[in-house]
Amino acid sequence: MCGIFGMIGNSAVGQTLTALKRLEYRGYDSAGIAVKTGNEISIYKQAGRMEQLQAIVPNGLDSTTVIGHTRWATHGEVSTANAHPFFSFNKRFAIVHNGIIENYQSLKNELTLRGISFASQTDSETVAHLVEANYKDDVFEAVKITAKSLEGSFAIVITDTVDGNLYAIKNKSPLVVGVDGQNVYFCSDIRCLSQYAAKVAQTPDNTIVVAEKNGKVTFYDFDGNTLPVKFFEPDKTEDFVHVDGDFMLKEILEVPEKIRRSKRGYFESGGLNLSAKVVHRIKRIYFIGCGTAYNSGLQVASSAREMLDIDVVPVIASEFIYDRYPVDSDTLAFFISQSGETADTIRAAEKVASMGGITYAVTNTQTSTLRYLCNRVKNIYADGEYAVASTKAYNCQLITLTLLINDIAYLKGSIDEVTHTKIIDSVDSLSIAIETVLNCGYSISKIADEIKDSSSVFFLGRTRDYPTAEEGSLKLKEISYIHSEAYPAGELKHGTLALMEEGVTVVAIATDSALIDKMASSIAEVKARGARVICVSPYSFEDVTSIKVPVVNRYLFGALSVVPLQLLAYYVAKRLGRDVDKPRNLAKSVTVE
Ligand code: F6R
Repeated sequence: MCGIFGMIGNSAVGQTLTALKRLEYRGYDSAGIAVKTGNEISIYKQAGRMEQLQAIVPNGLDSTTVIGHTRWATHGEVSTANAHPFFSFNKRFAIVHNGIIENYQSLKNELTLRGISFASQTDSETVAHLVEANYKDDVFEAVKITAKSLEGSFAIVITDTVDGNLYAIKNKSPLVVGVDGQNVYFCSDIRCLSQYAAKVAQTPDNTIVVAEKNGKVTFYDFDGNTLPVKFFEPDKTEDFVHVDGDFMLKEILEVPEKIRRSKRGYFESGGLNLSAKVVHRIKRIYFIGCGTAYNSGLQVASSAREMLDIDVVPVIASEFIYDRYPVDSDTLAFFISQSGETADTIRAAEKVASMGGITYAVTNTQTSTLRYLCNRVKNIYADGEYAVASTKAYNCQLITLTLLINDIAYLKGSIDEVTHTKIIDSVDSLSIAIETVLNCGYSISKIADEIKDSSSVFFLGRTRDYPTAEEGSLKLKEISYIHSEAYPAGELKHGTLALMEEGVTVVAIATDSALIDKMASSIAEVKARGARVICVSPYSFEDVTSIKVPVVNRYLFGALSVVPLQLLAYYVAKRLGRDVDKPRNLAKSVTVE
């Protein structure tokens, strides 16, 4: 989940530094570039953010061949020594890598026995030495032998001091190639690359790419046979925005507009796109994803259980891969992923595909790896999300998944036309309801002042409010670093009540009028033990701080009640002086298992 970039073309140093800044959301532990000047490569790298790297790159430095990297540490601590790029032992080659070389230890042992010493603790450095160790008189041959010896997930870009070409090796980690006249680019992210290249191509797995100084690009399999790979024009309408404040707040404020866009996009792109025959066959539905994307599946699974008379199971992707969930040709699995590049979700999709199930990607990145893997794809139309903590994508995942389930239920005959139409129409009133909640930002920021010093925050909800509690808790802990947990409210008394005391905050989400009395009991229980309670609800509870939300369609409530929790997490983190857009230890796109 690092970001890699490489290019041949004019002003390559400046362009690479700008691209790395854009890729920083993928990892911000360290950053570095390798610059080819004449028959030499110079490496500049530094632990910390891009600003630290920029400070050590000499003014006026330029070149036509540069590779660069932003790191999210996996193997080896956060340090300048472990930052990419890495030289090969005689400095003939330099490489950057995103992914994990699973067999690096045995490769490293072999190289060490040959007298090659390592400057870092990383798996990636092995690749640099391997290329040079495999080199006789043909760089392509050395790259081919190296590619065949690697196991794991990798997008690697290699620069050579002599020929000035760039070589890339790709398996499982994302790698997009771009061209524009004689300029050639490699990048982990299509949105970033679309700002540079006139045409782009997704590199298939098990591929070597050779980019020459004259702008020629050729794709090969690991045996050296050429591969036909299609270039296409990227969507350039979505410029990389610069914001003066934080991306996270901007993205929360965009929720109402993006929800409308999500609904429009759903219908413009053909709706469900599954035939009635297929829908009638479906006996089991999985919602699979990680983190926030999983929470959206958890939320919509609750609606799907009500709307459909079949098995509906939300599963965390990394659990799905190694557990024994049944899959057959009557299984429909939704793979939910903002980035479409999350390794766990991709592995789970591969598993369902290999077992003959129907795979359906729900993603914010139309040209992602997940999209190409699945039988069907639906864009959620949230547009670029740059804050590491996901917000607007969650709301748009909920809308898209609800519309998908609504269509399945209608085609199956388990809901009538009136209910079906009502759900679709209610998306518009949902947007308006969210706007009213966003207008309460100031009072939510005041509540943040009250709870910022809590020792722990517990989020409680029942049925459809429980997934919202999970998402609220995840948002708070990932950006504020306050310990938080989510519980189905009724479960608290089976153990966790022991933790309720002064200094603890409980956020209760209570949107279902049928369960108000039950929630009132849970609130009374925690208050009796000294916890401070904040309630998110359209209803009033005695003697607790309330964040009022309007009433909306029952199947859409989750997309509304999460908004005050997104804002609360944001304001708490700001009050604590956290870097809300780039919280510690995290990255936007988790491309390792
Ligand atoms: C939390 C967050 C993560 C992601 C998770 C899956 O705010 O952003 O939990 O939701 O890593 O990422 P995608 O949706 O890209 O598969």
